[in-house]
Amino acid sequence: MSRVETLLAAMTLEEKIGQLNMATADRVVTGPVLPGDTEAGIRSGRIGCMLNLWGAEPARAIQRMAVEETRLGIPLLLGFDVVHGHRTIFPIPLAEAAAFDAALWERTARVAAVEAAEDGIAMTFAPMLDVTRDPRWGRIAEGPGEDPWLASRFAEAKVRGFQGDDLSAATSVAASAKHFLAYGAPTGGRDYASVDVSDRALHEVYLPPFQAALAAGCATVMPGFNDIAGIPMTAHVPLLRHWLRGQAGFDGVVVSDYNAIAELIRHGVASDLVEAAALALKAGVDIDMMSSAYARGLSTALERGLVEIGEIDAAALRVLTLKEQLGLFDDPYRRGASSATAGSYEAAARRELAREAACRAIVVLTNSGLLPLAAKSRRIAVVGPLANARAEMRGSWSAAGEPDDPVTILEGLRAALPGSEIVFAEGVAIDGEDVRGVAEAVAACRAADVIVLCLGEAAWMSGEAASRANPVLPGRQRQLAEAVLDLGKPVVALLSCGRPLIAPWLEERAGALVATWFLGSEAGNAIADVLTGRFNPTGRLPITWPRDIGQAPIFYAARSSGRPNNPKDHYTSKYLDMPVEPQFPFGHGLSYSPLALENLSVGAEKFQAGEDVLASVDVVNQGAIAGEATIFLFIRDVVASVARPLLELKGLAKITLAPGARENVRLPVPASAFAFPNAEFQPTIEPGRFELSVGLSADRTRLLTVSIEAIVD
Ligand code: NOJ
Repeated sequence: MSRVETLLAAMTLEEKIGQLNMATADRVVTGPVLPGDTEAGIRSGRIGCMLNLWGAEPARAIQRMAVEETRLGIPLLLGFDVVHGHRTIFPIPLAEAAAFDAALWERTARVAAVEAAEDGIAMTFAPMLDVTRDPRWGRIAEGPGEDPWLASRFAEAKVRGFQGDDLSAATSVAASAKHFLAYGAPTGGRDYASVDVSDRALHEVYLPPFQAALAAGCATVMPGFNDIAGIPMTAHVPLLRHWLRGQAGFDGVVVSDYNAIAELIRHGVASDLVEAAALALKAGVDIDMMSSAYARGLSTALERGLVEIGEIDAAALRVLTLKEQLGLFDDPYRRGASSATAGSYEAAARRELAREAACRAIVVLTNSGLLPLAAKSRRIAVVGPLANARAEMRGSWSAAGEPDDPVTILEGLRAALPGSEIVFAEGVAIDGEDVRGVAEAVAACRAADVIVLCLGEAAWMSGEAASRANPVLPGRQRQLAEAVLDLGKPVVALLSCGRPLIAPWLEERAGALVATWFLGSEAGNAIADVLTGRFNPTGRLPITWPRDIGQAPIFYAARSSGRPNNPKDHYTSKYLDMPVEPQFPFGHGLSYSPLALENLSVGAEKFQAGEDVLASVDVVNQGAIAGEATIFLFIRDVVASVARPLLELKGLAKITLAPGARENVRLPVPASAFAFPNAEFQPTIEPGRFELSVGLSADRTRLLTVSIEAIVD
């Protein structure tokens, strides 16, 4: 018998259930904190896992309690939401996705893991892999956007970064792929609301990132709060037991979301904690995060015959096995022992990475030539409620990031432009009705050569429980902006936001519009880097940016329909009151060096179904400075047994070009790119015509396309 099997054999029922019970420290609370004495629970073996406790000393102290003061000395599993950095805060995931850079995603996750592990954490509740196509949903900020291929690459990179090569290392933390499944498609974009999507959408859109995370060895999975067509994910036998445990063969730990097992009662599928506990356990949920349903209900469920002891044993064994894999039995104190990681990532290197990630996350949406700021801009007015909003720069889920840590936009610009005279006025608050500061802000702008207008949301307006029916600029920011724009001076508008904000009027009037999201610790420096041209922008939208919220859900990978939009034909798929096109397409983002694609070709017009294809395209830098191009590769299966999307992202390439340079770029298209789930949801490649397109965004009017044919000999 292995060490954990021997241990399991020695455990009482209460101790086994204790391993399944995760309690919180009361620092960050996202749901009800249940009464009860946590310390007594740990000492008696009734609590085996904790969340929201960090810091080398507190972690060591609580671990000592479990290891030295319990009958069996089983170490605790300490988990935390290390979503986009731990102490050093990186851009929110949606922003980081805009980098389209798997190596970067992995590096930031690695640093986050190192920092979290230094604070005693052994498990992060990340990456969040919820594909979403609705900017009303506040948690759009926490994930990689709308596309399953992109989300899959994000998943792999994050899992590798968090877990490293060896889960037992003092610098590794177990990742958690969340929220399984389709949590990003709540009705009306309202967080926690019911989801009702097709099996096809599950297979094509929502499952792939989880498959990718599992293939990368993700140690744990968290079911979402949502139900899908009436079956809450916390009790979803077809998806958790049959698909995840069965088909995908996942033998890691499934950890519930916060209080989600007890919430099966409110969902209306369990009448009490006993039934709720039985439903979750039988579906395959191992750890009960904070609902105490397992602690209070599982032994009764066993007595009533609702669960079997073998199911409790299997869950406890999985938790013990994870603790074993994390090296906790060999040395429960390895994380949090500062000597273990000291020097591996120096503070300066972490900040440098935060700045690089933030630079790469920024998306220049429009630019009439105002950016980069001319060196002769001597007088700059920096106005708006996000200009000096230090704590906001962290965005949602800022883990152990301190509110006074980030660099503000104002500070970043002042540091980057020491020769300029920079005046600042807030004008209005982020939210609220007070407009008394508008006049002062306008006055501050009068003498300016250029105005940097810092608008956006507060950090709390995206993230969990932060859906907005109308994601526009909150409060009276539009009034401030219009008053400033009325001066007729050059205005660079920055949007600090956790989602696309709807502001077509701003695009029309500002000389440049930049999505700066929530960029974390180095926000201000990175924004200054982009505005001054020290960094030639590379960020591209990982999400379609609507012109009106009435277009949501909106995404590039739409199907044709039998009556595709045709403005000249009334009976086609369109709106009477606005265009169907978004404000900015997926993949959009400007560089200071105009880039162009030419001469797309593939080896041959026909290829054997099941073989790889190699595309080739020329990339030209038409600008006067070096620039990086992101080339997207899409395919369309023109005729198939199931109508396929007009475009599906299947690959990308990045290349840096010297001014005026032309380079040939090769884009490998793996055979799997031509597959889609057939009627039984098995991947299949049907022979026939495919369109292969490349572009600098998903704007279909600007793609280069070749037609190729898959043949079967
Ligand atoms: C609720 C959130 O849905 C989940 O993502 C998070 O990990 C837990 N709370 C723990 O904080």
